[in-house]
Amino acid sequence: KRVVILISGGGSNMIRLVESMTGDHPARPVLVASNDPAAAGLARAAAMGVPVAAVDHRPFGKDRAAFETALLGPILAAAPDIICLAGFMRVLTPGFVARFEGRMLNIHPSLLPKYQGLHTHQRALDAGDAEAGCTVHEVTAALDDGPILGQARVPVMAGDTADTLAARVLAMEHRLYPAVLRRYAAGDRTPVFLP
Ligand code: GRF
Repeated sequence: KRVVILISGGGSNMIRLVESMTGDHPARPVLVASNDPAAAGLARAAAMGVPVAAVDHRPFGKDRAAFETALLGPILAAAPDIICLAGFMRVLTPGFVARFEGRMLNIHPSLLPKYQGLHTHQRALDAGDAEAGCTVHEVTAALDDGPILGQARVPVMAGDTADTLAARVLAMEHRLYPAVLRRYAAGDRTPVFLP
C-alpha cells in the first residue's frame, strides 16, 4: 500500500509512521506533503529518503478549493492508497474528502467525540477530566468526526498544564498511529485501544 502523509509542522507523528513502514509492513511512504514550505517535517522526511512536496496555502487566501486543487497535483502523482493526516492543520473541503473517503486517516489529540477542534488539552483541564488522550479516525466531511480506528488514554495529573498534558498525549500518539496504520493497511478496521 502506498501512503501519503500530510503535515503542517514538525511532523513527529509522520516520522513515527515512516519509521514503522519497514520489513513485512504492508505499506510504504511515497510522499510527505505540507501546506507550509517551511514545515520542519519536510526536511526530516527528506532526510529519511521520502519524497516531499509543499504547497503554500497562503497565496490562495480564503479559496480552500483552489489550494486543495494545487495540493492534489503532487498527491495524485504519488498514486496513494492511503492518506494520513498527521499534524495537518488545514480544514479540508467535502470535495477533497470525498476523493479519499474510506482511505484517509487523521490523528486528533483528544478522546473523540469529546473536544473536536482546537485547544483540546486546555479544554480537558478546564473540565477537570481525569483522563485525556488521542484518537485516530477515518476522515469524513464533518471536522474531527468519522469512524474511530484507535484511541489511547493517558491520566491527567495534578499540576498538569496544557503543555505537560500535550507532551504525555503526543507520546501516545506516536504509539497509536503506527499501530492503527499497520492494521488498516492490512485491511483490518478493528479499532486499536491503548494501553
Ligand atoms: C500535535 O499537537 C499533535 O497532538 C497533533 O498535531 C500536532 C503536531 O503534531 N496531532 P506533529 O508533531 O506535527 O505530528
